[in-house]
Amino acid sequence: MKEPYEKIPRHVAIIMDGNGRWAQKRGLPRPVGHRAGVEALRDIVRMSSDVGIEVLTVYAFSTENWSRPQDEVGAIFRLMLEYLNREVAALVENQVRIRIIGRRDHLNDTLLSAIEKAETASAHCKGLAFNVALNYGGRAELVDAARALARAVQQGELSPEMIDEQTISRYLYTAGQPDPDLLIRTGGDQRLSNFLLYQSSYAELYIPDTLWPDFTPEAYDKALRSYAARQRRFGGIKPR
Ligand code: IPE
Ligand code: IPE
Ligand code: MG
Repeated sequence: MKEPYEKIPRHVAIIMDGNGRWAQKRGLPRPVGHRAGVEALRDIVRMSSDVGIEVLTVYAFSTENWSRPQDEVGAIFRLMLEYLNREVAALVENQVRIRIIGRRDHLNDTLLSAIEKAETASAHCKGLAFNVALNYGGRAELVDAARALARAVQQGELSPEMIDEQTISRYLYTAGQPDPDLLIRTGGDQRLSNFLLYQSSYAELYIPDTLWPDFTPEAYDKALRSYAARQRRFGGIKPR
C-alpha cells in the first residue's frame, strides 16, 4: 500500500489542457480529444473525493474559447450537456456537490436547464464541492464582483472603507470556499490563461507535460505528492 499523504490541499484547481493535441497526435479530430478528456475527469473527481479534498475546480471552457471554430465550440457544449445528464446521479451518490461557475450568458436553454437541474439535485451533498468553470474568465469574474460591490455601496449596504480582501472573496464565484492550494495545468504550457486570477495568488503550481486525457489517477497522485513536499511560506520565512 502507498504511504498516506503528509498533507492534502483543501482546494485543487485544474486547467484541463491538451485535449486537442491528444487527438491530433492520433490523427483524430479535436472533439475526440475533448471526449477523452471527459473520461479522464471522471476518475479525477472520484479520486479527489476519495482522498478528502474539499474543493475541486476544473477549467472546462474559457471566455476566450469562443474564438475557436464553431464546430469545436458546439462539440464541447454538447459534451458538457451529456456529462451533466449522465453523471449527476453518480455524483450525488458520492455526495459530490456540483456548481457551474462562470457567466451564464450565451449558453443555450437546454444546457442552462441541465445546469440548474444538476445544481439543485446535488445541492444537499456534503462531500466534495466540485466547481466546473464554464464560460469562465478570471477578469470577467472580477468585473462581475466590482459591479456587485458597486451596487451594494449604492444601496447603502456597504461603505467603500469596509471593502477588504475578504469582501472581494465573498463577491467571487467561489464565495465561501478556500483559495486553491494546488493549481495543476496539464499540457505543459506555463500560463494561467485567465483562470482564478484573484484566488490563485498563493497556489502551488504543478505543470506536467502530460496531456489532459492521459492524466490518470497515478499522475494525480504524483501531483498530490509533489504538493505534500512543498514548503509554503506566504511571504514569511518559516515553512508552513
Ligand atoms: C483544453 O484542451 C480544453 C479546452 C480549452 C476546451 P485544448 O482544446 O486547449 O487542447 P490543446 O491545448 O489544443 O491541445
Ligand atoms: C485554457 O486552455 C482553458 C481551458 C483549459 C478550458 P486554452 O487552451 O484555452 O489556453 P491557451 O489559449 O493555450 O492559453
Ligand atoms: Mg489548449
